[in-house]
Amino acid sequence: MRQKKYILSEQELPTQWYNIQADMPNKPLPPLNPQTHQPMSADDLSHVFNKECSKQELDTEHAWIDIPEDVLEKYTFYRSTPLVRAYALEEALGTPAHIYFKNESTNPLGSHKINSAIPQCYYCKQEGDTNVTTETGAGQWGAALSYAAKLYGLEAAVYQVKITMQQKPYRSSIMRTFGATVEGSPSMSTRAGKNIITRDPHHPGSLGTAISEAVELATTTPGCKYTLGSVLNHVALHQTIIGLEAEKQMEMAGEYPDQVIACFGGGSNFGGIAFPFLRHNFTGERHTEFIAAEPESCPKLTRGKFEYDFGDEAGYTPLLPMYTLGHDFKPANIHAGGLRYHGAGMIISQLLKDGYLHGEDIPQLESFKAGMLFAQTEGIIPAPESCHAIAATIREALKAKEEGKEKVILFCLSGHGLIDMPSYDSFINGDLQNYSVSDEEIQQFLKDVPKVD
Ligand SMILES: Cc1ncc(COP(=O)(O)O)c(C=O)c1O
Repeated sequence: MRQKKYILSEQELPTQWYNIQADMPNKPLPPLNPQTHQPMSADDLSHVFNKECSKQELDTEHAWIDIPEDVLEKYTFYRSTPLVRAYALEEALGTPAHIYFKNESTNPLGSHKINSAIPQCYYCKQEGDTNVTTETGAGQWGAALSYAAKLYGLEAAVYQVKITMQQKPYRSSIMRTFGATVEGSPSMSTRAGKNIITRDPHHPGSLGTAISEAVELATTTPGCKYTLGSVLNHVALHQTIIGLEAEKQMEMAGEYPDQVIACFGGGSNFGGIAFPFLRHNFTGERHTEFIAAEPESCPKLTRGKFEYDFGDEAGYTPLLPMYTLGHDFKPANIHAGGLRYHGAGMIISQLLKDGYLHGEDIPQLESFKAGMLFAQTEGIIPAPESCHAIAATIREALKAKEEGKEKVILFCLSGHGLIDMPSYDSFINGDLQNYSVSDEEIQQFLKDVPKVD
């Protein structure tokens, strides 16, 4: 069995990120101040985030942003990541589709999250900050941020969603190994955490609760900046290194994707692989289809509403224009912790509204079944989040088989699942289940979305 990999040399690595905001036919709406409902400036955002990321967040002019020399140097620790033709998976499916995956699991942290952790910590250091704080769902972002903080001599404090701390205990150990302090969210150490626990003593935590706690810490601690691993425009910007490399590697393979697929939490790995290809759809040069695979139990792209909403449970963040299930939506305890988020990033929300991409809902059991087949064919155990992208890819590959049509599918393998083995054990033992959410439940959560005229 062949397995074909495409790797770029150091000289071929992209030296700029792609800022899709500059090319979007309809720009994303601005984030709003939650009190005044006025658009927020980069200055306003820089009370919470570092200044450079605040600027990048609102930059709708410059399509190409230079990657700082120091960040490029750190990228060479693990980039380029391989683009792989998944012949074994194709054969197992008996599909005429050509399946490629961009393997972001090869760095020692295990996921794409390090691509944004490095620049965020670099800018904090440059601007004289001493501490960083963040939330983490599955723990992949927390692990990446803890390592990047250590690289730049910053102290890191991470709020990890309580339920995933129980599901994936080794991720907390990884963060601590890199020197970070880690606390389960909701915790009793912040006002936001105490309020959530008072309302619901058994709250399992969500990315929304952990974001509230980290933002509170950042805004009450001098020299401390909040960093985010998903959702925001500057995070997706940093992740475009994935798609820019993939574009060159697909060229080496002599193919161009008909479909680009990634799993979807807040949208950073999806945006990262999709945006560089999407720019050719804007010009009409290409007609690639973009599919964001989200969990059936957290269906913001397919069943959420486009509204201004908070990015967190407590309502500390700016109001963001996004497809949302309501900021206090309580996602089921699925094992893809990184996908348990109520909203979609602003750029992706606008692109979805404008018909450039679509969401696909994947039940938990289908995601693990797909992950098992991928592991057994390609020899890589995927993160439960990435299993959603694989499941959507398998659906498309089987459609191609039914239709007897050749097509080229590219998906993002956002991370490996080696720290997620208890989840695989539960699947193998038959202890996992699907969770769906009713229209009534969604309507109930959407009632708390703030009214913006
Ligand atoms: C491996 C992996 N993939 C995907 C995601 C989802 O995040 P995003 O939508 O920002 O890529 C996460 C988040 O924790 C993750 O750990």
